[in-house]
Amino acid sequence: AQERASVSIDTARPGATIDPAVQGQFAEDLGRGIYGGVWVGPDSKIPNTDGYRNDVMQAIRKLNPPVIRWPGGCFADQYDWRDGIGPRDKRPVRVNVTWGGVTYDNSFGTNEFMNYTELVGADAYVAGNMGSMTPHDMQQWIEYMTFAGDSTLADMRRENGRDKPWTNLKYFGVGNETWGCGGNMTAEFAAEMHRRYATFVWKAGDSPPITKVASGANVDDYHWTEAMMKTAGRMMDALSLHYYTFPGSWENKGAATGFTEDAWASTLKNARHMDELITKHSAIMDKYDPEKRVGLYVDEWGTWYDQEPGSHPGFLYQQNSLRDAEVAALTLNIFHRHSDRVKLAAIAQMVNVLQAMILTKGDQMVLTPTYHVFDMYKVFQGATPYPVDIDTPRYKHGDIDLPMVDASAAKAGDGTLYLALVNLNPDEPAHIVTGMTGTARGRILTGPKMDTHNTFEAPNTIHPVAYEGTSDGGKLAFDLPAKSVAVVAVEQR
Ligand code: AHR
Repeated sequence: AQERASVSIDTARPGATIDPAVQGQFAEDLGRGIYGGVWVGPDSKIPNTDGYRNDVMQAIRKLNPPVIRWPGGCFADQYDWRDGIGPRDKRPVRVNVTWGGVTYDNSFGTNEFMNYTELVGADAYVAGNMGSMTPHDMQQWIEYMTFAGDSTLADMRRENGRDKPWTNLKYFGVGNETWGCGGNMTAEFAAEMHRRYATFVWKAGDSPPITKVASGANVDDYHWTEAMMKTAGRMMDALSLHYYTFPGSWENKGAATGFTEDAWASTLKNARHMDELITKHSAIMDKYDPEKRVGLYVDEWGTWYDQEPGSHPGFLYQQNSLRDAEVAALTLNIFHRHSDRVKLAAIAQMVNVLQAMILTKGDQMVLTPTYHVFDMYKVFQGATPYPVDIDTPRYKHGDIDLPMVDASAAKAGDGTLYLALVNLNPDEPAHIVTGMTGTARGRILTGPKMDTHNTFEAPNTIHPVAYEGTSDGGKLAFDLPAKSVAVVAVEQR
């Protein structure tokens, strides 16, 4: 039996444009995120272009990544940018004290990151070190990257192989998680520190403006948002929010695969909590910034499970299954609903870390279900969202009670109406009737098990396949299988 649902799209009430940057990526110097994932070095046997592995670069480019955030995360506040410039064989070897206590040779530094963003067509979001360095260091880093004229730092950049400044440094993070690994500050102190550091985040000469991102709240720390907005709101262009989804507790997060339906349901419930967090943080921001000049940047989000058994401690390597695809789709739908305030988001993380797009092992690569959702959702970049009224049966499991169907609709620049549909129920299909007449075609991602995933042995187990709408009483309708995500282009008649 199919559960019946209906969706109705209110095209009379278009929302604010979905900023492409909500599909941003986060690539921290953590585990095998950069080294081994993005970067193998020019002498590697793994096919590469100037040190960037080709397979990963091509796959990332295909997602139209709007922005990539680097070098952290917590790593940002232990990082000295000067370590990562100049001849690679002269760069210092440091210890990644935050992540795994391993050494890194700094062969992937500023030039390597900025060039990579250009190669994949993304804007750059560089996170500055506020926790353990000075405002002067931040200012000099920006000058190194963006100054077109003659200065010692700009000349240093030229000596390091880059004549023209990079023009895609669109975002600069003034600290990261200053409430924790970025300095263990109080909200009031962090707000004062933001004012001080942000003063020195200058654009250099004629370079394009830089969006200053203040270090925002952890999860539901509303006092943090209040204090930052009150004291430093006028000195920021955006305030961040970090929220991770895990099925269990912080101490026992739960396994990435081989989980029960309890874990499936609690993961989806916790992912949906993002909506409440954005609503409440936005309401506080509205008090101080009713014009919505300051963006809310969810620049770290995603699933966080117990790391893969046997993997290096502190590397946060985890598998990625159909459950992660659902989390990705539900979260992107939430961002669409808050497009007036949420102007950037960055999933943690791009390769080999947490809810990754891509996993690698030696010269092998797999695309994860989350990758496929981002690929399907790229049509929403820059689109105009519409409110969707969803009349849905419930998906109930134990104490958890969730809507079974979630949906999002938006019109792209070329006039095409796109509809995303998610069935949260792992067992029951849904029959969804719309108020529209016409046809719809697109792709669907689903699998036989809640943890269906790709492995290096079977890399194509789960991938999107063609999908189309049906008709019910003359109206466009959909038969949406259990545990699935679909994105279709609607042709209305
Ligand atoms: O993404 C992993 C870590 O999570 C980041 O380094 C930190 O900012 C957050 O706590």
